[in-house]
Amino acid sequence: MTALFPVVSDIARAQSFAQANALLRAPANDAAIRIDDERDSDVAARERLLDAAFGAARFAKSSEALRAGRLPAAGLSLAAREGAEAIGTVRLWHVRIGDRPALMLGPLAVAASHRSLGVGAMLMREALWRAAQRGHKAIVLVGDAPYYARFGFEAALTKGLDWPGEVDRARLLGFEIEPGALTGATGRVEASGAKLLRRMKRTPAQERRAA
Ligand SMILES: CC(C)(COP(=O)(O)OP(=O)(O)OC[C@H]1O[C@@H](n2cnc3c(N)ncnc32)[C@H](O)[C@@H]1OP(=O)(O)O)[C@@H](O)C(=O)NCCC(=O)NCCS
Repeated sequence: MTALFPVVSDIARAQSFAQANALLRAPANDAAIRIDDERDSDVAARERLLDAAFGAARFAKSSEALRAGRLPAAGLSLAAREGAEAIGTVRLWHVRIGDRPALMLGPLAVAASHRSLGVGAMLMREALWRAAQRGHKAIVLVGDAPYYARFGFEAALTKGLDWPGEVDRARLLGFEIEPGALTGATGRVEASGAKLLRRMKRTPAQERRAA
C-alpha cells in the first residue's frame, strides 16, 4: 500500500511556531484526489460518509456535545474529492480549555472504498497546516492513538483536561502547533465557536435514530 504522501511525523518536535509552520507545509494535491474547502454541495456526501464510518453512535459521542449547535472554525472544514465526489472529510471546531483557546479535530472519515491510499493523511496534513497558518496553537481530539500518533498527537498532553462527558483517556489526544501550548493546560474543555442560528434539518434516517 503506497501512501500518496509521506506523513510528516516530527511536526510536534518543532521548536518554534515558525518551524512548525515550515514543517506543516501543505502537500501538493494529487491529480486524482484533491483536498479542498467543504462546499454546501458536499454536505449530503459528508453525512453519508460519517454515517457509514461511525453509524448512529456518532451522535452520542462526547465530542459531539462540543460541536452541536456550533459552526466549525473558519477555513477548517475540508473535503477530499475525487472528481466531484467527496470521499473524505475532516472538520475542526473552536474550544476553550480553561482560558486557553484551542481547536477540536473531528470527525475524520474516508470512504471505505478509498482507505489506505493516504487520503486520511492528506486531510490531516492540510488541516494541521491550515490551522497553523491561521494562528491556532493547539488541537485536541478523541480518537485512535495508533492512527493519530503519526501526526504528533499524544495523550500525555491532555492529562490535565476535564473532558465534558465520558472519555477513554488513552483516546483523548493533544497536538501542540506552538510548542508548550498545552503545557500545564487544565480545566474543562468547552465549546467556544460561533453558534448556529438555526439547527441543520436532520435527514429522516437521523430523525429515526434520534427518536
Ligand atoms: C481512520 C481513517 C480516517 C484513515 O483514513 P485512510 O485514508 O485510510 O488513512 P491513511 O491512508 O492516511 O492511512 C492508512 C493507514 O492507517 C492505518 N489505520 C487506519 N485506521 C487506523 C486506526 N484506527 N488505528 C491505527 N491505524 C489505522 C491503516 O491500517 C493504514 O496503515 P498502512 O498504511 O500500514 O496500511 C479511515 O480508516 C476511516 O475513515 N475510518 C473510519 C472512521 C474513523 O475511525 N475515523 C477516525 C476516528 S478515530
